[in-house]
Amino acid sequence: MNGHLEHFTLVLFGAASDLSSRKLLPSLYKLARWDQMPDRYNIIGLSRSPKDHEAFRADARESITSHVKASDVDEGQLDRFCRNLYYVPADLTEAEGYSRLRKTIESLVTDMPSCNNLLFYLATPPGLAPHIIDNLEQAGLGGRNQVCSSWRKIVVEKPYGFDLKTARELNAVVARVFNEDQIYRIDHYLGKEPVQNILIFRFSNGMFEPLWNRQFIEDVRITIAEDFGIRSRGAYYEKSGLLRDIIQNHGLQLLASVAMEPPVDLSADAVRDEKVKVFRSLRPITEANVREDVILGQYEGYRTEKDVAASSTVETYASIRWYIDNWRWKGVPFYMKAGKNLAKRVTEIVVTFKCPPQNFFGAPASCSYTSNQIVMQIQPDETIAIRFGAKRPGKDLITDPVYMKFDYKTSFDHELMSAYQRLLLDAMGGDQTNFIRQDAVESSWRVIDRIRDLISDPESYPVHSWGPELKQ
Ligand code: BG6
Repeated sequence: MNGHLEHFTLVLFGAASDLSSRKLLPSLYKLARWDQMPDRYNIIGLSRSPKDHEAFRADARESITSHVKASDVDEGQLDRFCRNLYYVPADLTEAEGYSRLRKTIESLVTDMPSCNNLLFYLATPPGLAPHIIDNLEQAGLGGRNQVCSSWRKIVVEKPYGFDLKTARELNAVVARVFNEDQIYRIDHYLGKEPVQNILIFRFSNGMFEPLWNRQFIEDVRITIAEDFGIRSRGAYYEKSGLLRDIIQNHGLQLLASVAMEPPVDLSADAVRDEKVKVFRSLRPITEANVREDVILGQYEGYRTEKDVAASSTVETYASIRWYIDNWRWKGVPFYMKAGKNLAKRVTEIVVTFKCPPQNFFGAPASCSYTSNQIVMQIQPDETIAIRFGAKRPGKDLITDPVYMKFDYKTSFDHELMSAYQRLLLDAMGGDQTNFIRQDAVESSWRVIDRIRDLISDPESYPVHSWGPELKQ
């Protein structure tokens, strides 16, 4: 049991969604399994289908056992967890379900029914958010309806709108009913342990940060590659495309973590202030440079995927050269490549350092062959490797690249928490550091909208290739 957390009720909108069954319920169970939940908590699932608490518990049990490792399933713990689950059938666009929700909440916490800590989680399609939020307010469950010293928070899943305009509209809806300090906009990349480690790697060590700038760094390459297609998400992808699905959020958040200045302290706002500054310093992509700095791609066969238009021009790949116009980074290219159906699944950040001023070792010691690199792999492995040149054994002075490697698996004895476990825990505990503030949402949409206005003709690329390359 986690003694730091107060008892609360989590209200899960979209309890039957893919996200709930694959990620949220298994993560909540794992938190309970490893004693990270408070002694009293309730989880109320809402979705359209009529079922009772017992049927919801059975469904949740099924989701959990199919998505967590068999060794993590402890029948006793699972029974106890499932006893905390409740279900309210509701059409989320209608007020009626919300009064049932309110009654259910009150019946669960009978000692001080109106002093319940409430965490609302929107695992629902974006179009439902305005209905949910209005109805919560009508039912007296909005953030500003809060009474006593209890708390109310809302977790909003991406996408936060589809562009700057709709992101602002969505925010206006949420912000009417919840204050910014009650709003948790989730980007699950920020819950990944190796992503959180970027801050530690950079700012808890004396030896990297002095070199972390335009004087010593040649370029930075961020790759988010997946070796599978859009799966069954044709309808969503047709509206979204990769720029909105991956670059606006995961890609730019990784870039901000690598490029930000040290925060003045570790408060949520200090860290997020520095990230927003990075977005605001991104050099605008313009008509003059878009063809040079951006390539979009679409994998062969995308147009025959289910729910995809036969003439679709939606991108499933993007390669972008960003520049950050500030004192630290001026002139250093940040290459970002992300795509579906690429050669392999890997997310990594490679920082390449400039060559020494003079190279007097024999071939093949060309600079790019041995240049110093820091390779932070986020997945599938969680590693950091440092590449440097070493003398090849033998009589000649020839340099070969070698690596020093840190691996989470071998250096630590802990099992890594999943991104959702970590972020749920942060939301319960009230830590917003790894959630996106509205100004970051807006500044990242601004740069993505600009690209989308300027380029919309993806090149076709073969499945399991590396996609079209930018000219270097
Ligand atoms: C989601 C995207 O946000 O992230 C998906 O909508 C993508 O298209 C997924 O596959 C990638 O997440 P992860 O954690 O598997 O890298």
